[in-house]
Amino acid sequence: MNLFTQETVILWLRVAVTLSNTEPTAELVKLSTVDSLIVPCHQSVTLQCRISTLQEGLSIYHLAWVLQDGKYLCDVNATGVMRTHPGNTPSAIECSYTPQTQLSLTLLQVQPLEQGKYLCKLRSSHGVKVTTTTVKLQGCYREAQPSVSDEGPTCTFTEVYPDGEVHWFQGPNNVTGDPKIKTKQVKDGKFLTITSSLNRKTVSGEGAYNCSLWIPSTGAYLTSSLVPEHGEARVEGPNANGAGAIGSVWKTFLVLLSTLFLV
Ligand SMILES: *[C@@H]1O[C@H](CO)[C@@H](O)[C@H](O)[C@H]1NC(C)=O
Ligand SMILES: *[C@@H]1O[C@H](CO)[C@@H](O)[C@H](O)[C@H]1NC(C)=O
Repeated sequence: MNLFTQETVILWLRVAVTLSNTEPTAELVKLSTVDSLIVPCHQSVTLQCRISTLQEGLSIYHLAWVLQDGKYLCDVNATGVMRTHPGNTPSAIECSYTPQTQLSLTLLQVQPLEQGKYLCKLRSSHGVKVTTTTVKLQGCYREAQPSVSDEGPTCTFTEVYPDGEVHWFQGPNNVTGDPKIKTKQVKDGKFLTITSSLNRKTVSGEGAYNCSLWIPSTGAYLTSSLVPEHGEARVEGPNANGAGAIGSVWKTFLVLLSTLFLV
């Protein structure tokens, strides 16, 4: 173990020495970005492009965050004025610029279509540079809705990304192979709604059912949900609250309306 660590250190030293030896002269200007970012769906992410220079007097002619297809997202011109081009991505973006130092691009709610390469490009008195950050989405879902009816248990997973499968468990047993399981997927835009039902009467005392969302491309379970025992089916998740909020807005509106009529 110790030997291995020492070897690794020596190897790293060699790599470092080789790198500094092969570099003929220090670069006049450098751009640095993160190679890749893995982001949960619906969340924001900030891509930073830092400029560094060893020589005085850097003049920036053009600095930009650009999509692979050449569409601009943010750019700074020779006079130092920054512009944001919001129409070029499906979700909202924000840009910020610290003169001579950094251009940041924020994708406010990353969607599947926004995965890919983002290029930071610089034209300056000290040369032309390009660096790239690759944005990838993590597997995600919005809600898990377990329920039970006379037919048996059902689980619905909404806004799933990427493609997933539902595996069923009863207590510790994997019952995914049961021929009475029916799973269907409905595509809503770039996301999937996956509904899986097991046509099997639930007898209390036999052990509760549990449905798990498996994402083949990541080789992992994203979530799992325990189906309530017969008779206590309910829907959980943010939507239930959302519906309540809308209800109270209506109530306020009706109260306001009735006060108007009373006056
Ligand atoms: C459950 O069964 C399915 C189908 O046979 C299988 O693909 C999956 O890996 C199993 N999961 C576990 C945790 O055993
Ligand atoms: C459901 O079953 C899986 C596989 O056995 C297990 O890892 C998970 O913790 C269970 N989830 C619940 C909510 O019981």
